Amino acid sequence: MIYITRKEHFNAAHKLCNDAWDKAKNLEVFGKCANENWHGHNYELFVTVKGQVNKDTGFVVNLKDLGDLIKSDIIEILDHKNLNVDVSGLSNILPSTENVSIFIWDILKPKVNAMGAELHCVKLVETENNYVEYFGGK
Ligand code: NI
Repeated sequence: MIYITRKEHFNAAHKLCNDAWDKAKNLEVFGKCANENWHGHNYELFVTVKGQVNKDTGFVVNLKDLGDLIKSDIIEILDHKNLNVDVSGLSNILPSTENVSIFIWDILKPKVNAMGAELHCVKLVETENNYVEYFGGK
């Protein structure tokens, strides 16, 4: 088994706000991320897949194909968008780094399988201090 990673990036806006809470509680829990008029992040996305090396190509997957998949199915949907209001798959979900990672995983997993590999990890870097790694499952 060998692991290979493709890195892409996107920019997006969001706010973290639980509508069931009042403004004070949202500010207490989410701090600056609860800012009513949104804020942005430069997200870095690392997609790691695993599999066997193909004897004919020397690849687990063709990284150009993986890059094209991430661009068409993830970056096109998220880049320069407001994650709270522009992305149908994220409506009614708090667009935290955790939830966006799960959203990305659910889209990519079957498509990586169709490429003959297995999705191993979605790593989403939100700031230089914070990132999430999702390996699937609960
Ligand atoms: Ni934020």
